[in-house]
Amino acid sequence: MEFFDVIRGRRTTNGPFLPDAVSPEHQRLLVEAASAAPSHFNSQPWRFVLTEDRDTIEEIARISGESMARLMREGTFWKRYRPYFRFSEAEMEEKRDGIFIDQMPKVLKPFRKQIFSNTGQGIMNRFGVPETLGEDNRKLVAGSPLLLAVLLDRTEYRPGELSGFYSVFGMGAAVENIWLTTTALGMGIQFISTPMEIPENWRRMERIFDVPDDLALMAVYRLGYVPKDAQRPTIDWQSRQRKRFSQYVFRDSCKSPERDDLGASAPSNGPQETTNP
Ligand SMILES: Cc1cc2nc3c(=O)[nH]c(=O)nc-3n(C[C@H](O)[C@H](O)[C@H](O)COP(=O)(O)O)c2cc1C
Repeated sequence: MEFFDVIRGRRTTNGPFLPDAVSPEHQRLLVEAASAAPSHFNSQPWRFVLTEDRDTIEEIARISGESMARLMREGTFWKRYRPYFRFSEAEMEEKRDGIFIDQMPKVLKPFRKQIFSNTGQGIMNRFGVPETLGEDNRKLVAGSPLLLAVLLDRTEYRPGELSGFYSVFGMGAAVENIWLTTTALGMGIQFISTPMEIPENWRRMERIFDVPDDLALMAVYRLGYVPKDAQRPTIDWQSRQRKRFSQYVFRDSCKSPERDDLGASAPSNGPQETTNP
């Protein structure tokens, strides 16, 4: 693929992967791409665990699904992430950020705007939405052929110090390289983030990966090849929109927003929309 096609086509995969194992060659390319990232003083503070072990994947899937159901049922998820939710295409088009839940069972659609109220939460719980989402999530993780844990070396990763910031910065660059590589290889990738939100569940994840004291478990991802005609999960969102240049770029100082038609020969409305599914 062309470089900019890869960048524009990079996506988070919300749906299932093919059951096919990720080839050793592709696994090598993923971690090689990660190591090509920049890091402070070339410290390369990142570490990775690749696993295809079925028992490990099933166990992590259970923890992830359980965590999802609990966060939803207790309302933690909705409260914590409320500012990111959009309720219509029009709102998405105006703000050009956040996520829009456009796929949900018909019976829930009338309640879409109320999910952040106590009544809405009650309705969601009565319809068993937390359990549906938890089970969807468990299945997605369990059906993934490859998991990747991302860790940082604690001698570099010292939160609160500049070195801690640099380490996270470098790790982000390494993960982005992996993310782009999945696009080039016809693969998909998604955070398994719900266990992170429940400290005791994150500790279970650390035990599964035998994380030693000198390493910090930072993130876990599921990876695999993306089917051509992927079916969407029961409840799903879209987040393909991007801000216009004038919404995130300035010229000369923070007082003057950049023009939306920056560098365009024809009038433009900011960054190109991606066409990939
Ligand atoms: C720090 C960080 C945390 C994220 N957490 C999650 C997550 O928990 N679950 C998920 O499906 N996607 C997660 N994402 C992916 C974002 O939702 C996604 O990048 C965004 O909606 C834009 O969509 P795109 O990646 O398909 O372009 C995360 C991304 C980042 C950088």
